[in-house]
Amino acid sequence: MTEQGGTIKAPRGLAGVSVSDTRISKSSPDGGLVYRGYPIGELAAKATFEETAYLVLNGKLPTRAEFRDFAASLAALSKVDAGVFDIMRSLGPGAHPIDVMRTGVSALGSLDPERSRPGRERSIESKMAVLAANSRRVPAGEQPRLPADGEGFADTLLSMLTQREATQFERWVFERVLIFYMEHDMNASTFTVRVVASTLADPYAAASAGLASLKGPLHGGANEAAMDMLLQVRDPGDAKKFVDSAVREGKKLMGFGHRVYKRFDPRARLCKQYLREMVQRRGGDDGIYRVCDAVEMEMWERKRIPPNLDYYAAPIFYLLGIEIPLYTPIFAASRVFGWMAHYNEQTEENKLIRPDSTYVGPTGLTYKPIDERGP
Ligand code: CMC
Repeated sequence: MTEQGGTIKAPRGLAGVSVSDTRISKSSPDGGLVYRGYPIGELAAKATFEETAYLVLNGKLPTRAEFRDFAASLAALSKVDAGVFDIMRSLGPGAHPIDVMRTGVSALGSLDPERSRPGRERSIESKMAVLAANSRRVPAGEQPRLPADGEGFADTLLSMLTQREATQFERWVFERVLIFYMEHDMNASTFTVRVVASTLADPYAAASAGLASLKGPLHGGANEAAMDMLLQVRDPGDAKKFVDSAVREGKKLMGFGHRVYKRFDPRARLCKQYLREMVQRRGGDDGIYRVCDAVEMEMWERKRIPPNLDYYAAPIFYLLGIEIPLYTPIFAASRVFGWMAHYNEQTEENKLIRPDSTYVGPTGLTYKPIDERGP
């Protein structure tokens, strides 16, 4: 960072700049990731989604009673008003699912007279999964799918997303992917949420801003773009040609690269193992795994850039029978827990986030009336 007339000039994209202290999570260049002090591999091997969400939100693992209450409150608050579905339906089948969710969250906030009361975040967290699962169906004129009673968060979301019967192992994998998507320190959407929180806007406003930030292909939208790319490659034997031509044309491969992880993304590594096991347990066609592996190897060979979580989450969702446009909504349904943890951390220790900028435009111009500016 350089100083200019008393203002510190940050590198482009704030790369390498710490903008806040946080106790929630930390990723590191050597492939480390901790949530509230617990390594991600430990949580992936042993924890449920609800336990991890409780941990991310509260800074400690729940006792049995806390777990029961937390899971019950998530289920109890998941009912989405019919009026919200009507608003989502009015957007029509051409609407992007993340825009539908964003509109849904805004509607939920507008209809909640207690939108600014502390604790309203739980209502957003529990309803986001319902919005995600219905972000395509409802605007297409189909009936909303509602959460079934008595299932955990991950199973409920999966059964709203697809009618396909998943095996126990597949459901376990889906839950792991949700755990990975839940939180990731100062990523773009979380930073967006913290900026909105710092103005003391309500959590619905912060969550809808988070969704807008998540939509782009450099962030959450990458999982859908990665799947489209893998389907385009189709044959592992074509991976070299595909990567060569993308690199030659200066194109970015979606699902590769990361601002923090330069050697490997620990979430992608675990998802690759899960994908391999999913394919093996099914027997038969392992083409999708071989395509992923071949493109990864070529990319490492050519650019030394590793795959990120989105790259290996995408084929897992694909094998689970989930429609591609729902991949980023799934990311959002999980990340909202991280967003709300950051919303609370920001507001508890608030300082308005209002950086400066370096003006590089012209100065000293004089106004000319419109008639003197030419045709
Ligand atoms: N394909 C090809 N080249 C790449 C890629 C890629 N996916 N990612 C980075 N590079 C190259 C880039 O062209 C640049 O090369 P050069 O120095 O020769 O100009 C160099 O690596 C540095 O890239 P950068 O874009 O300046 O790095 P960054 O830290 O600003 O970007 C990133 C990180 C995630 C935006 C970038 O890697 C990218 O665009 N990846 C593809 C989109 C993607 O998968 N996003 C999901 C990120 S992880 C999950 C999430 O947070 O949502």
